[in-house]
Amino acid sequence: MPVTLGQYFAQSGADPSLVELLLAVSIGCERISAAVRRGAVGDILGALESENVQGETQKKLDVISNELLLEACSPASRLVAIGSEEMDGIYEVRKVGPQGGFFLLFDPLDGSSNIDVNVSIGTIFSVLPAPTSATERDATEADFLQPGRSQIAAGYVVYGPQTTLVLTLRAGVRAFTLDPVTGEWLETNEALAIPPETKEFSINASNMRHWAAPVRQYVEECLAGDTGPRGKNFNMRWVASMVADVHRIVMRGGVFLYPWDAREPNRAGKLRLMYEANPMALLVEQAGGAAFDGQGATLDCKPVSLHQRVSVMLGSKAEVERLARLHAEALQPA
Ligand code: AHG
Repeated sequence: MPVTLGQYFAQSGADPSLVELLLAVSIGCERISAAVRRGAVGDILGALESENVQGETQKKLDVISNELLLEACSPASRLVAIGSEEMDGIYEVRKVGPQGGFFLLFDPLDGSSNIDVNVSIGTIFSVLPAPTSATERDATEADFLQPGRSQIAAGYVVYGPQTTLVLTLRAGVRAFTLDPVTGEWLETNEALAIPPETKEFSINASNMRHWAAPVRQYVEECLAGDTGPRGKNFNMRWVASMVADVHRIVMRGGVFLYPWDAREPNRAGKLRLMYEANPMALLVEQAGGAAFDGQGATLDCKPVSLHQRVSVMLGSKAEVERLARLHAEALQPA
């Protein structure tokens, strides 16, 4: 019999209050999964008139998913505050105090453009330590601004043909599939490992003309196939949901890129550091891969704001190292 999520936590030796929080996240995601499965029948499709802090039009399911996670997670006894793609500021659950606790960050519904067309979407989450304070005080956004290396746990849930939770407690990466018959999360992979070499890349190629030279060179070399400098043919996949694209990579290898591009030169990238890139970077590193932000390891990036954007290149180690090398060479004087 496969291990359930609860049994795994019981065997993991993890802090019981962290387990309480992660089980709450899993319950929120079960509810999102149920809403996703109902689709048009459940009146969850379509856009709202509102925009989120990123200036993006919110979909009904973005807002529903945010509320479902807030409701499921807020009772967790040591959760201090929450940051979300769908909320401008932080959501305080309790005060920072001598007891410490956890911060939770999430992108409640990743891949919004896929919702109405019945293509895979997901939820991404990250847990950071909350500071301790001798006297009680409000949590601040500055408290959240910790590098990705500080994450205690991270994961995502992909709502695809199956609902699958992929999780790391910093000791490898495991997958649990939600059994629609019993409603139980069952372990379906106990040690996900990303092969270091790959022949598959994932990027929105419609932006090619806007990319920086190293990214363009990397993709051109892949496209040149077995007669080019790479000496092998590559395949390309783009789901337009980072969760789905990264899930493919943790299952069979590959490299995912959403790099800086010249459409908005002052913006580091499209994706958000704290609740998209960092949790994925931790999962990918824990599965033996690597994550690069155009300058260094994503997990070493020191955040300056909650909704900060970042350039993302992650997946099979050899490919990410190649991208890092191309970026370093581009900086060298001719
Ligand atoms: P959002 O959740 O706001 O829809 O963003 C999705 C992200 C990411 O999941 C995906 O890889 C990327 O945006 C897709 O962007 P393009 O539409 O530019 O391809």
